[in-house]
Amino acid sequence: MDALFDDSVMSRTPAKLRPGAYHLPGWLSLETQHWITERFREWGRGPVPPHSTMVAGHPMRVKTVCLGWHWSPNRYSRTADDVNGAVVPRVPSWLVDLGKRAVRETTGDPDKAAAYLPDAALVNYYDIHASMGMHQDREEAINAPVVSLSIGDGATFRLGNSENRNKPYQDVYLASGDLIVFEGPARFAYHGVTRIHPHSAPPGCGLGSGRINITLRQTGLR
Ligand code: SIN
Ligand code: MN
Repeated sequence: MDALFDDSVMSRTPAKLRPGAYHLPGWLSLETQHWITERFREWGRGPVPPHSTMVAGHPMRVKTVCLGWHWSPNRYSRTADDVNGAVVPRVPSWLVDLGKRAVRETTGDPDKAAAYLPDAALVNYYDIHASMGMHQDREEAINAPVVSLSIGDGATFRLGNSENRNKPYQDVYLASGDLIVFEGPARFAYHGVTRIHPHSAPPGCGLGSGRINITLRQTGLR
C-alpha cells in the first residue's frame, strides 16, 4: 500500500529528493523550452551528428550530441573520435548561465553557483521506447554539481543511492521544463530513466514526440 501511494512518483512540487538532490518542476517556461528545442535542432545539424554511443559493445538507446567535451565511456575528448572526428562546439554562454541559475535556485548557495562553470553538455534524445540504465556520472575530475533539464514527453527518472544500482531508489516523474540538480552528498548517485511517457509533451514545447534531456557537468579537465 505504501508503495502505491508513494507521492514521490507524481509529486509536482519543488522537492529536495534527498540531501544534495533537487527537483524543480516546470522550471523552464514553455517559451524557453521551445527556444531550446530550436537550439537542439541546430546542434543536431553538426559538426557532429547525434549518435548512439557504444557502451560495453551495445549502442545506447538514446541519441546524443555533446557540447564542450565529447563524452564516450570513461573518456572525455575535444573531438568526437567515435563519430566523425570533428571538434565539438563549446557550451554556449546562455547554457552556462542557466546552469549557474539552476545551482543557485536549488542549493540557495550563491558562491556555489558563481563557482559553477559547466564545460560539458550531453544532449540526449529519447524516442518513446528509449530508456537509460542506472549509472553514475563519474568521468569528471571534480565533483561539481550535475544539472539536468528535460523537454518534451515525460519520463520516469530513477534516483538511486551512491553505492550500487539497486534499491533504495526513488522514482520521479520528470515533465517538460523540469529541473534536476544533484550535487554534494548526492553527486555520485546512480540514476537512470526507466521509461518515457508517450503523448505527454505539452503543446508548444517544440517537441512533438520523445524527450530531450540536457545534462551539464563541470569536468575539471583542461
Ligand atoms: C543522464 O543521466 O545522462 C540522463 C538522465 C535523464 O535523461 O534524465
Ligand atoms: Mn547521467
